[in-house]
Amino acid sequence: MKEQNKTFKRSLTFTPIVRFFHWIRAFCIFFLIFSGFYIAYPFLSPEPNTEPTNFLYALFRSWHIMVGFLLISVSIFRLYLFLADGRNKNERMSVSDLFNIKIWIGQIKNYLFLGPHPYIKGVYNPLQFFSYFFLAVLVLIISLTGVILYYNVYHNGLGGILFSMFKWLEVALGGLANVRMIHHIVTWIIIIFIPIHIYMAVWNAVKHPDGGVDSIVGGFRYQESKN
Ligand code: HEM
Repeated sequence: MKEQNKTFKRSLTFTPIVRFFHWIRAFCIFFLIFSGFYIAYPFLSPEPNTEPTNFLYALFRSWHIMVGFLLISVSIFRLYLFLADGRNKNERMSVSDLFNIKIWIGQIKNYLFLGPHPYIKGVYNPLQFFSYFFLAVLVLIISLTGVILYYNVYHNGLGGILFSMFKWLEVALGGLANVRMIHHIVTWIIIIFIPIHIYMAVWNAVKHPDGGVDSIVGGFRYQESKN
């Protein structure tokens, strides 16, 4: 077998906390889709018995809400890391690439197999950044509509605080029925986003093995060094 000696430069792309949050959020989203669809259409019902113990719907609902608040908390902390964490500077540098038309054109050509990957300063190419920003907006909408649905059932404590914060939004959206419908429609937009995201991640990992996509697991990217 022919052996080749190559040296690689290792650089940190995603810090451990960013990777951890990525997988926590992935879990939350899958769980919320599943439990949310159960809430919309309870496709399982427990064997009836004479004791008041079979509150499967309530169980799904309470887990949906707990995981929903987990998603909200992690997303807020993730936003903080993006904006303020010193080790996430490379993420923030992607914003300047976003305003560079040459990088946009180079990236589109690369996706169409018409050219090499353009040089980018940050970790995300402009299309990637834009699509993640779009996902963040979807998570914001589904979280806001989620808390409106929540405070309409739980009126005290946190429900009371959220009521005073977001009642105006419920009214602006045309009432609770609309809020529920938006929550449901955004679920479907997220469902469409997920396979595209996974396909693009795999495509990138295959086409640019040193491109850093695998680093959402390991954290590092390895680029061949020329010297
Ligand atoms: C990716 C995130 C989420 C997805 C995919 C999702 C999905 C869903 C779906 C499909 C429904 C059923 C709507 C219907 O009746 O047609 C639902 C209901 C609900 N969701 Fe979410 N949801 C998410 C996040 C959240 C968050 C962050 C909260 C806030 C804590 C939340 C709170 C609720 C509540 C309170 C209900 C209504 C329960 C009821 O009718 O009693 N959800 N969700």
